[in-house]
Amino acid sequence: MKRRKDRWSILIAAMLILALGGTAHSSGARVFAANCAVCHQNHGQGVPGTYPSLAGTVGSYVRSKSGRAYLVQVVSFGMNGAIVSRGAEYNGFMQPWTQLSDADISAVLNYILDRFNAKILPADFKPYTAAEVKYLRATHLSFDQVRAERDAIMKPAGAVASAPSAMKAH
Ligand code: HEC
Repeated sequence: MKRRKDRWSILIAAMLILALGGTAHSSGARVFAANCAVCHQNHGQGVPGTYPSLAGTVGSYVRSKSGRAYLVQVVSFGMNGAIVSRGAEYNGFMQPWTQLSDADISAVLNYILDRFNAKILPADFKPYTAAEVKYLRATHLSFDQVRAERDAIMKPAGAVASAPSAMKAH
């Protein structure tokens, strides 16, 4: 009798692990599909001239501390005005994603980086955590301030790239 009970508890524990593991694994994908893909497209490729690509681009931003912060800031606080991405100009608007939780934002950024930027991710990249998002979200930035952050990280990009870093060869 006792053994039978043990078997049940093992089965229930295994099911719980599967259920929770499954959620943790796919929530970034779900947040992306539900909120971002309509503009940035299913593979993050964007729409040239209208919605910037999130594929093969943002993975290089996380090389610097400010670039890493910028990705949280642009999703949290939105952005508008002219930017250049892969040589093309965009002059659009992205809303602030206030309805997403800190955990949603860390999950969706990790998803975008893992899925669409694996080749350019620094070897020492550490996934975002909800706590990091919470910390960065506490200091509110305007749309213009977010764009200024972006401009600042784009300028020294050459300097960062030529510094000895842990970049993966690509
Ligand atoms: C309604 C269309 C739309 C949706 C939906 C949208 N975005 Fe954007 N996103 C944009 C536009 C437009 C820009 C560029 C804004 C500009 O030109 O200043 C942008 C910029 C970005 C950038 C900055 C890219 C860079 O190279 O600096 C990131 C990162 C980003 N979006 C992530 C997301 C994520 C994550 C979601 C879902 C939670 C999302 N976006 C949903 C339209 C959208």
